[in-house]
Amino acid sequence: MIGIVAAMEQELAAIVAAAQAEGPLTTQTLAGQQFHHGTLGGHQVILARSGVGKVAAAATSALLATMADTMVMVGTAGGLGPSAPGDVVVATELLQHDFDARPLWPQWVLPGVGESRIPTDPALTELLGAAAETVCAEHRPDLATLGLPAGQARRGLVISGDRFIGSLAASDALESGLPDALAVEMEGAAVAQVCRTAGVPFALARTVSDRADHDAAVDFSAFLDQVAAPYARDLVLALLRHLD
Ligand code: ADE
Repeated sequence: MIGIVAAMEQELAAIVAAAQAEGPLTTQTLAGQQFHHGTLGGHQVILARSGVGKVAAAATSALLATMADTMVMVGTAGGLGPSAPGDVVVATELLQHDFDARPLWPQWVLPGVGESRIPTDPALTELLGAAAETVCAEHRPDLATLGLPAGQARRGLVISGDRFIGSLAASDALESGLPDALAVEMEGAAVAQVCRTAGVPFALARTVSDRADHDAAVDFSAFLDQVAAPYARDLVLALLRHLD
């Protein structure tokens, strides 16, 4: 059973529509959250919208981890370092950039986990990386409508926090503390922590929607409607094909 999580309604709706094209879904409500059970790409899946932020993502993923034996998250992120809009970043590890229990523990270190960076599952990440290459190599009319060139697949550190990064000062501060970070979003590291505790293999891919600067909010809403949803769906479908 593969659990698939997206933060935003538009992204999940595109994945739900693809599953509905394969057969009817049944919807279960647990602790006020909906879980859609069905088939996608011939695999048994549970689809869930986490909502925005680490608390929402942790709540959804903890429930999902009781039902799924593999979990994948897709969505958007702000680009850091070399990452540009249209790129797909596949996480090899995730960190909560706003977690700070100093002086009791070093910055970013999660007590209980014992480290700051949570690695994703290597085998699943390899397959998701291949899916990202496939999706980036396709001709994307969705990117072209926003005047964006074809993106590229990247692998590396994704950082999460309860803050939309929408200024150069904020993204510069993140980049100077964590120079190898490729993308910033608001949920992934929470899902990674829950999956690690639950022993569920986890992988994450994020389509870069903005450069986490002063244009980020404007870019984000256009991107979400026109690009994020089809990318989320196509990344999941490509991953499921690679899983066969
Ligand atoms: N998700 C997409 N863009 C983002 C940004 N700039 N900051 C945080 N999360 C994001």
